[in-house]
Amino acid sequence: MEFENSWGNPVKAEAYSKLEFPNTYYLAYRDLPEILAVHIQGVKAIDFGCGAGRSTRFLKNLGFDAVGIDISIDMLNKAREMDPGGEYQLVTDGNYHGLGSHEYDLVQSIFTFDNIPGKENRTHILKKLGELLKPSGKLICLDTNSEMYTRQWASFSTREFPENKEAKTGDIVKIIVTDIDDPRPVEDIYWTLEDYKKLFASAGFELEAVYAPKGKEGEPFTWITEKEIAPWIIYVLKVG
Ligand SMILES: C[S@@+](CC[C@H](N)C(=O)[O-])C[C@H]1O[C@@H](n2cnc3c(N)ncnc32)[C@H](O)[C@@H]1O
Repeated sequence: MEFENSWGNPVKAEAYSKLEFPNTYYLAYRDLPEILAVHIQGVKAIDFGCGAGRSTRFLKNLGFDAVGIDISIDMLNKAREMDPGGEYQLVTDGNYHGLGSHEYDLVQSIFTFDNIPGKENRTHILKKLGELLKPSGKLICLDTNSEMYTRQWASFSTREFPENKEAKTGDIVKIIVTDIDDPRPVEDIYWTLEDYKKLFASAGFELEAVYAPKGKEGEPFTWITEKEIAPWIIYVLKVG
């Protein structure tokens, strides 16, 4: 299986850097301030897969002392451009020792595992992210609900990819982000909620909470599927 990080090129990085919190993306971030307030003590944070820095700036606005890390230099260049005083570092898979060990209260990962293939690779990365955390630290991992890839959403179209219906955990699925200027499909890795739970357990994490935010009546967006099915799943994890 050939999987290429859809976000690892200048065109997608440019398009992604213009994205704030429209439509379905709003639901990824809407409840996070409260979730962070309930589960996280302290302010030292790593934003794993920071992309163009949207999720890092979000943490910083909430008072976190956050360092963004990513494998895409194009994304990091955008993040640095938009937050010149911020700290953004290029990493390779599992090599996070430059960031210290057991020093962080939070590792946040938003939409990153959607782009990481392979169970062993994911397990290795998760174990290494766990080593960044203090004993009291938590990993907050937000990824796409596997139900996403066969439905229509305010920010996404999947009707062009009926083959997504056959996907199993670990397979590549395709989706079009209708909120960005670049209409080329993005490839994600399909992973069910049950298999996420198994993955976290095999990497030594204990599940503390799961959130599945749905759209609500009266919100200023035209929800399509969002009121019936949560587009994102948020896992709160502690090192077991
Ligand atoms: C969809 S973007 C999300 C960016 C950001 N978290 C946000 O919410 O705006 C996913 C990011 O994860 C990065 N990524 C993919 N695989 C990664 C890996 N193995 N390690 C670190 N970052 C990775 C991509 O380069 C991309 O910037």
